[in-house]
Amino acid sequence: MNGIEEQIPVTEPERQNHYMQKTAALVAELSAKRGRKLTCYIATFGCQMNARDSEKLLGILKAAGYVETDDERNADLVLMNTCTVRDNANQRVYGRLGVLKGYKKENPDMRIILCGCMMQEPEVIEKIKKSYPHVDLIFGTHNIYMLAELLYTQLKEGKQVISVKSEAERIVEDIPAERKYAFKSGVNIMFGCDNFCSYCIVPYVRGRERSREMNEILDEVKRLADSGVKEVMLLGQNVNSYGKNCLQKTSFARLLSEVEKIDGIRRIRFMTPHPKDLNEDVIDIMRASKKICHHLHLPLQSGSTRILKLMNRHYTKEQYIDLALHVRERIPDIAITTDIIVGFPTETVQDIDDTLDVIKRVEFDNAFTFEYSKRTGTPAASMEGQVTEAFVKEQFARVLDLVQTCSKKRAVLVQGQTMEALTEEVNEHDPSLLTGRLSNNLLVHFPADPSLIGEIVKVELTECRGFYYLGRLVQS
Ligand code: SAH
Ligand code: SF4
Ligand code: F3S
Repeated sequence: MNGIEEQIPVTEPERQNHYMQKTAALVAELSAKRGRKLTCYIATFGCQMNARDSEKLLGILKAAGYVETDDERNADLVLMNTCTVRDNANQRVYGRLGVLKGYKKENPDMRIILCGCMMQEPEVIEKIKKSYPHVDLIFGTHNIYMLAELLYTQLKEGKQVISVKSEAERIVEDIPAERKYAFKSGVNIMFGCDNFCSYCIVPYVRGRERSREMNEILDEVKRLADSGVKEVMLLGQNVNSYGKNCLQKTSFARLLSEVEKIDGIRRIRFMTPHPKDLNEDVIDIMRASKKICHHLHLPLQSGSTRILKLMNRHYTKEQYIDLALHVRERIPDIAITTDIIVGFPTETVQDIDDTLDVIKRVEFDNAFTFEYSKRTGTPAASMEGQVTEAFVKEQFARVLDLVQTCSKKRAVLVQGQTMEALTEEVNEHDPSLLTGRLSNNLLVHFPADPSLIGEIVKVELTECRGFYYLGRLVQS
């Protein structure tokens, strides 16, 4: 042991800052040997939380001297931030691991790192240990802040390092993050979930619900605003229960009204509210606010009261419809989107009919429809009456068909209007167009100069193309 190692700080984030410097020194050595900068490639699966986590992971890697690349094959470090909410997410990770094995044969110095929700499942760890020895480092959702320390250990020792914690010990603030977009950012307001919907693995892999202190969140939003961020998305699995376990008890409505006051922030979004907890205070603030976007993602999951009960969702079909219609009445131009699961155990054609009925009555602006996926350890996985694949395929098609009809019907309602759009990027298919996002989350593509990326501009919605618009920039 040398002198520096004897003084490793025990508090965070000081300890990680220490390891970031040590890793940076090691990376500088390796980079001198190879005569070039070391590169890293990050693949992110899953939800907005994972996307935000990946920004933090990239922040740490950059602080340690890596530069980001989109050339996965030749990268010095490949990190996969995984999701396990449905089995197909897991299968994609195993598929990619197979491909990476080939890359590592060509480039034995490549480091392969796995983290995220899938790593919180003990059987996944067993499988990787047994069948994927080429993975160098594994950590879970509760210690992403430790990447520098874990990477340092791996680089030094060269062996497979596994560090997965079953519960979060603390919320570590002030970890560097490298934003994907300069002008918008996710902001975690809470971690974990205590709802235990019976199909869902998230509470098991993300741990118990923990809210960040309001002042930490507001400081972060202020810093983001100062660095040019115009839109923030407040992230949590059930944002309505924000503040319950803060030192000073507070609420999501309070948080929204405080974020509203921050200069420079022009738009506020949030994800995800739970229908059982969405209260009038939040609806009032959304209605009065000049900044909160008129978009509510309100997951329905099922329209059948019987299935909702089995799902442990704590609302009925009628309560959901009343809530959604009430929101529409109070905020007439709001877009309501949702998530729907098809094929929950014991689900029948009548249950799906109920789901279709809710879709018709609420007229969702958009909906993500998922085939039910059995997750080990969840109550639904051991329920009797698992449904057949043929049933799921058939019913999924019915749901999707109606969802698409509704989305088109809703999208066309704003044809001809002029609205504000936050310009996000150059259109993928036609570089003469920019893509902007409206407050209601619809996308509009319009001819404009790329210098407008990151700006909020006025666009006339000239032509509805089903789920998106073509538009024309309006000088203001
Ligand atoms: N906390 C959020 C989102 C969690 S995961 C919420 O409550 O809505 C995102 C979506 O994945 C869920 O809304 C649900 O529709 C879907 N999902 C979760 N577990 C699933 C499973 N086992 N099978 C299929 N879809 C699932
Ligand atoms: Fe999963 Fe339900 Fe928690 Fe959402 S609220 S993360 S669906 S358990
Ligand atoms: Fe997936 Fe984890 Fe998000 S399981 S959906 S990445 S919380």
